[in-house]
Amino acid sequence: MDQIRRDMLAGGGAALAGLLLPGGAAAREEPSLRETGASAGILYGLCEPATQFPGNRAYVERLAAECSLIVPSNNFMWRSVQPARESFDFTHLDLMAKFAAERDLGIVGHTLFWYVGVPKWLGALEGRRGLQEAMARYVEKTVGRYKGRMVRWDVINEQINPKDGLDGGLRRTPYLEALGPDYLKFAFAKAREVDPDVVLCYNEYGFEHRKEEERTKRDALIALLRKFRDDKVEVDCVGFQSHLSGDDEIDIEGLSAFTREVVGLGYKIAITELDVRDTNLPADPGLRDKRVARKVKDYLGCVMAEAKPITITNWGYTDDRSWYQYYDWSRRSDGAPLRPLAFDAAFRRKEQWQVIADAIRNA
Ligand code: G3I
Repeated sequence: MDQIRRDMLAGGGAALAGLLLPGGAAAREEPSLRETGASAGILYGLCEPATQFPGNRAYVERLAAECSLIVPSNNFMWRSVQPARESFDFTHLDLMAKFAAERDLGIVGHTLFWYVGVPKWLGALEGRRGLQEAMARYVEKTVGRYKGRMVRWDVINEQINPKDGLDGGLRRTPYLEALGPDYLKFAFAKAREVDPDVVLCYNEYGFEHRKEEERTKRDALIALLRKFRDDKVEVDCVGFQSHLSGDDEIDIEGLSAFTREVVGLGYKIAITELDVRDTNLPADPGLRDKRVARKVKDYLGCVMAEAKPITITNWGYTDDRSWYQYYDWSRRSDGAPLRPLAFDAAFRRKEQWQVIADAIRNA
């Protein structure tokens, strides 16, 4: 497998010619999700750090052939973009944006305000006003720089966490603590002012499964989305991160009702970080891929019966580059590599890929 991957990265794709694909012959023959998605009006995306563009040439050329948009992982985090108060660094993002323009790929801005990636130097700012000025400057520089080239901006990421015990189930974040919930309105308004045409999203995780804590999160999220409407906060879209768990059932009834409600409030939806954590699924890779694909099928079937997402993005291109590899809690006890994504480590389309293709085609 390693040799095949090395060959392919070196441009030796012919080495795979005779191999059977895990997704079967159909997946190999079918048009890419870039094409299927474009004709169905659902842009298919892949997440990959900006540092890969265009240095890892063979890899990113393959990626570009499979999708319509790139999410440069966490590289838009405030701390990465503005490492010191007086210095912005767009080096890798610019290279990625140049590559994207040449390949006619859209870009997703993920994410402006998240409790992760908050710059350390912010602590040195004085008071409410200083923080608001810094936020405004960061949005002007960042959203302004890529204006007209973005598919959407995840303006706010993961602001709900009922476990923190705050009103409305909000998460205790540095922004909330300093400015109160009004910071949300401020962030969306600023992003809208800088780029009046881009889709602005609120992005959230952890509300897909049949678990009490996920039901509570859905309720808190609906309350927040209602409040946005009441307060005339201009939010276009709700990002369903969709980090699915191999261990837990999708809450079909709860998630259907939730999606209906989101749509009823006038939001578009986007599936923003799709993958399946297969830590405890059977060891056999074929069986594991089937279970992963089944989970995605249940999930997309449920959500897409209620709404047509504007984008569907897998949180990573090939299995071996999934974010789960960085964490002990997601490692398998048998030591086998994880298989959470739609393409395996040799770039082959898996059954998950086929499920996504079918869902997009039938949308
Ligand atoms: O690059 C270093 C590597 O040199 C080192 O050997 C390795 C050892 O742990 O760490 C690598 O850095 C990791 C980095 O991802 C690489 O991009 C960090 O440990 C790891 O913590 C970091 O995780 C990121 C995570 O957010 C936290 O920032 C993931 O890549 C990224 O995919 C993930 O993305 C988030 C979304 O933004 C929001 N939704 C949830 C999603 C998953 O957590």
